[in-house]
Amino acid sequence: MSANKKLLILPGDGIGPEVMRQVRRVVDWLGRRRGIAFEVKEGLIGGAAIDAHGVPLSDATLAEAKASDAVLLGAVGGPKWDKIEFERRPEAGLLRIRKDMELFANLRPAIVLDALVDASPLKAEIVKGLDIMIVRELTGGVYFGEPRGITDLGNGVRQGVNTQVYTTTEIQRVARVAFELARKRGKKVCSVEKANVMESGLLWREEVTALHAAEFTDIELSHMYADNCAMQLIRNPRQFDVIVTDNLFGDMLSDEAAMLTGSLGMLPSASLGAVDADGRRRALYEPVHGSAPDIAGRDIANPVASLFSLAMCLRYSFDMIAEADLIEKAVAQVLKGGMRTSDIMAPGMARCSTTVMGDSIVRALDKLNVA
Ligand code: IPM
Ligand code: MG
Repeated sequence: MSANKKLLILPGDGIGPEVMRQVRRVVDWLGRRRGIAFEVKEGLIGGAAIDAHGVPLSDATLAEAKASDAVLLGAVGGPKWDKIEFERRPEAGLLRIRKDMELFANLRPAIVLDALVDASPLKAEIVKGLDIMIVRELTGGVYFGEPRGITDLGNGVRQGVNTQVYTTTEIQRVARVAFELARKRGKKVCSVEKANVMESGLLWREEVTALHAAEFTDIELSHMYADNCAMQLIRNPRQFDVIVTDNLFGDMLSDEAAMLTGSLGMLPSASLGAVDADGRRRALYEPVHGSAPDIAGRDIANPVASLFSLAMCLRYSFDMIAEADLIEKAVAQVLKGGMRTSDIMAPGMARCSTTVMGDSIVRALDKLNVA
């Protein structure tokens, strides 16, 4: 493996900087204790970048991101920037980095750890052992479709337009990621759209079906309408293995799946591009939770989603399976020991800060590393 692996850390806004501080500690730990030489740079995105440069993502930071082996992102947005016009808001920085790096496949796992089974608002018997993967299309659909905008129709009437649009290529490449993932997991893919009312959904279903027949007959494929999927995720979430869906449905269903696990504070994500000729793949890793401005700066946010995102980074970008396992094991141990940030606090457990959660995880890593 090549000597230096370039990591770009973009902490962003709200709780982003405080959770990414814990990620940095673990990255440094990997350097010290596992001899992994990361070349780490930090940059600005979202509101932090607006304050510094007037734009939510500068060209220089974008170029830095493209030159990196992986980007680790915190979160963007907050009330301070809510009044700014659409294209210059913090969220536009996030959408730009996804689009310009062509990170079309967003992997959002929802896993219920045994230690946290009671944190779920659903009954333990419904969620115990849950392990699903949502693959959300991330660079197309209604988020980016043209035409878009708000137009004045006259007589005091205005019209807001967004367009849902997918090409066969866009559908095939994200479906391929889902099928390949399923091959390494439970060998089931459920493809989700609204083929009953949307042409883009019908095309989606046809393309996924054709790809399955041509290349993935070893995988069990099913199709589901998005509204039904929302319901099935609550009724019987363990029926799913991999779910593949479009940008907007994926945004909603992944928040719903996240809550099955008890807290958004636990869930990581990976956004992946295509594999290039040298076998390299652009990638960005971020927690599913947002910037949570209401609790920002108080050292109470849960750093686990970001640390699990680092684990995904080690797994998918660097093939460092042992180190990814170490981080996941360390977190599981600390939770088993009863430490809880506020979002996952339960009776009889020990409430702790972001920093103390980080301390405990680093200590657990030390112990696991010796063992
Ligand atoms: C997400 C977020 C983003 C999205 C926002 C912040 C633009 O909700 O990553 O799920 O809608 O994609
Ligand atoms: Mg979302």
